[in-house]
Amino acid sequence: MAHTPTHNQTKHWQAIDAAHHIHPFTDTVALNKEGVRVITRAEGVYLWDSEGKKIIDGMSGLWCVQVGYGNKELADAGCEALRVLPYYNHFFKTTNPYTAELADKLSKLLPEGHTRVLFANSGSEANDSALKLIRYYWNLKKKPQKKIHLSRDYAYHGVTMAAASLSGLTPMHPQWDLPLAGFQKVPAPYWFGAKAAGYGDMGPDEFGVLIAKKLEEKILEIGPERVASFSAEPVQGAGGLIFPPASYWPEVNRICRKYDVLLHADEVITGFGRTGQWFGCQTYGIEADVITMAKGLSSGYQPISAISLGKRMGDVIANANEELVHGYTYSGHPVACAVALKNLEVIEREKLVARVKNGIGPYLHRRLHETFDDHPIVGEVRGVGLLAAIELVPDRKKRAFFPLDPGAVGTHCRNYCFNSGLVSRAIRDTMVLAPPFVISESEVEEIISKLKAAIDNTARDYGKM
Ligand SMILES: Cc1ncc(COP(=O)(O)O)c(C=O)c1O
Repeated sequence: MAHTPTHNQTKHWQAIDAAHHIHPFTDTVALNKEGVRVITRAEGVYLWDSEGKKIIDGMSGLWCVQVGYGNKELADAGCEALRVLPYYNHFFKTTNPYTAELADKLSKLLPEGHTRVLFANSGSEANDSALKLIRYYWNLKKKPQKKIHLSRDYAYHGVTMAAASLSGLTPMHPQWDLPLAGFQKVPAPYWFGAKAAGYGDMGPDEFGVLIAKKLEEKILEIGPERVASFSAEPVQGAGGLIFPPASYWPEVNRICRKYDVLLHADEVITGFGRTGQWFGCQTYGIEADVITMAKGLSSGYQPISAISLGKRMGDVIANANEELVHGYTYSGHPVACAVALKNLEVIEREKLVARVKNGIGPYLHRRLHETFDDHPIVGEVRGVGLLAAIELVPDRKKRAFFPLDPGAVGTHCRNYCFNSGLVSRAIRDTMVLAPPFVISESEVEEIISKLKAAIDNTARDYGKM
């Protein structure tokens, strides 16, 4: 496909897309009225659209392109696998070198005890599979009454019936008559929003313990003998980049152990270096029984996800001595595994996780604080690794949100970003960044100057500057 399409080609793609393609998480009528943007190529941290406009991607696509776009080694690894073994499955007592090597590699990178993995093709499928495996575990343990799955407000775990049921983003439910029975929510450790939610003016650590206690209260209310699992992202991503206070996860570990509730860490965003360690479980000391991962596993170059089982679940499930009645046609697809293996090799060889932790991550946060800490509509700048959030508020000294139409200010700011050639995401009124790990300091400066202009313009439009 040509790199610089003609205007007529753009019109053609827009027309066929409008006629035949229903987009995810999109109002089709509104999109078709506005006209879709056609992305035709990408390199490093940049995207180009069909009109030749260059856009800096502050979100790594959907939080996934750890090694940046256009990595030739990943492309070559995929091409080679396509030539050598374009497809075979694992249903008939077979494996292949790519899948076996990837399972082995993951067992070495994952937290201790996570020595067994299953593969799937997306984060949603991984989470759906994890819930099935949790149910299976309790059935094998002769505790079939343990069926309630707990998760948190603002959680995002994907879109299958079960993954969406875990979601704490309530707009995800009514169109589909969800959540399914047996899914219940507990509060999120969202300290910035605590005051507005009526928790008073406590410090982060006190708040972290209080919110963990809400989990304990919920388990006791339901009855521990009925609670199967607690699912949580180490850092809540699509719910607004909620970083847990340091006191939160140790309490959650203790509570899950005490009441024999399996702890499921959804590392779909936080996995593969995003928080400055290979896994968010390592950054926050989370003692997970089951971990789900996707996105950064292949830097988004191929659709692949995995579910790892800690010792407790792994020993029981791998030794059940009966057929595991589960699996996808594409579980452990050789091409996806080959690309994921090469991706992990590149991340390791280029020391990208250490770069996130000690180099470009701290640089991004320092520059964000210098630029926005005193801004009239910025209430908080927060982050870890290469995840950063800037909370837009009417008065920077108060932990209160813009009244009326939550999200409108964020969307307004996001539109300024897009128009200036920056992809940032607005979640409610929080501006979010999650750039590729290969981003340079000068590219960080480009993001910050575009974001600053967008936030300044937003402040002016809302009469705050
Ligand atoms: C934490 C988390 N879990 C699960 C998912 C779903 O992944 P997928 O879109 O690959 O199904 C996402 C996607 O953003 C996510 O952020």
